[in-house]
Amino acid sequence: MVQQKRSQWASNLGFILAAAGSAVGLGNIWKFPGKVGAGGGGAFLLCYVVIVALIGFPIMLAELSVGRRTQKNMVGAFRSLNPKWAFAGKIGLVTLFVIMSYYSVVGGWVLKYIWVYLTGGDFGTGATVYQDYFTDFITDPGEPLLWGLVFLVMTIFVVVKGVSKGIEKVSKVLMPCLFLLLVGICIRAVTLPGASEGLKFMFTVKMEDFNGDTWVMALGQAFFSLSVGMGILVTYGSYVPKEENLVKSAAWICVLDTGVAFLAALAIIPVVFVTLGADGLGMGGGFAFMALPEVFAGFAGGKIFGLVFFLLLFLAALTSAISILESCVAFLTEEFHMSRLKASILLAVPMSLLSAGYSLSQSEARGINLPWFDFTNGFQMLPMNAVMEKFTDNLMIPVGALCFCLFVGWSWKTTQAVREIENDGAKPFPLRGLWSVMMKYIAPVVIILILFFTIGKGEGLS
Ligand code: PHE
Repeated sequence: MVQQKRSQWASNLGFILAAAGSAVGLGNIWKFPGKVGAGGGGAFLLCYVVIVALIGFPIMLAELSVGRRTQKNMVGAFRSLNPKWAFAGKIGLVTLFVIMSYYSVVGGWVLKYIWVYLTGGDFGTGATVYQDYFTDFITDPGEPLLWGLVFLVMTIFVVVKGVSKGIEKVSKVLMPCLFLLLVGICIRAVTLPGASEGLKFMFTVKMEDFNGDTWVMALGQAFFSLSVGMGILVTYGSYVPKEENLVKSAAWICVLDTGVAFLAALAIIPVVFVTLGADGLGMGGGFAFMALPEVFAGFAGGKIFGLVFFLLLFLAALTSAISILESCVAFLTEEFHMSRLKASILLAVPMSLLSAGYSLSQSEARGINLPWFDFTNGFQMLPMNAVMEKFTDNLMIPVGALCFCLFVGWSWKTTQAVREIENDGAKPFPLRGLWSVMMKYIAPVVIILILFFTIGKGEGLS
């Protein structure tokens, strides 16, 4: 067998920022605030933090250790430790494929907003202008498709070139910029007159909101946002040098990712309350596209802020999209010896078709009937876009994560993983006992319970 020479991260900071670049993306800014709204505010935030700390973080560590031990892509990694488990890597691949199909559509929305700001930032007038503008745009049957395609082509372009050191270097500068800008927007948002209502909503924990739905949503969102359960971190872990401390790195990635998500919610939810009141929470996702332009319009120079914000959001989305496509391409190139270009094109064609389904099914809101993209009859009255998101977040990602727990806990064994994490004793991991219990028992049981709840309600597919 040909031994592959694998590259390594130049520095631990580079690795943490690259992994954070995969984690921080549209999930934090586009999805998270909407989920906080739907999950009753404080209760969702609490469930989210509990899941990140007790389940997301341990699984992240497990993925990184599998990657660093095997130095392989996600399918190859499972196969080399136990060939019977190669299917688990394939589950991750399918999940990533579906996610990429809708990620590129939403990435296209971001490009459109950059374009609007570049061309003067005119959204029209009226009381609910920003909401109307967004809804009109995403329900248009043509334009979002084009922007989505542009986003996909850009991602392919970078992936075909190889994940250049450029992207790593660029994210080192841009991720902190995104963070600072978000802090600035937060300060503006929480000091708006009337913002306290939104803050109250976010930080009041109502007992009745601690229900199965909130836990399901928190789990799906946490895994999506941390990029765990899909094998991305196996690939990234395979580039980590032995002497690096995996525990610290994983902790940093979790903290950065969760920090950005909280900032996004703080920047957006108060504005939703100021402009639309509590009813605005019913708008669901897409808050960022509706609420933030409103904040930007409220102060001098706001349009520049708008432009810069969406540019940074674009880069955050691009670094995540690259990690998704790259993992699929790495599998095809390593397992089938294809060129990167061929692999990318082979993936892009069906991805674009699925993207079209996602994008066009939004048009149903306009009464445009596109029967071939409408699962309304078969899947409990949900259009294709909702099916795709729920399928990945509530079903595929938790199943992938469960496979990781069972594999590391019971097949490869946590003692082996701990050896890898500790680098044969060189970096003691004081919580190893607790971590092993989490991986073997607690995390799988929690995920299975949540999956039962989801499947019981028929929500995995609808
Ligand atoms: N974690 C990314 C986000 O929050 C999305 C992502 C999903 C990236 C799956 C990689 C794999 O936007």
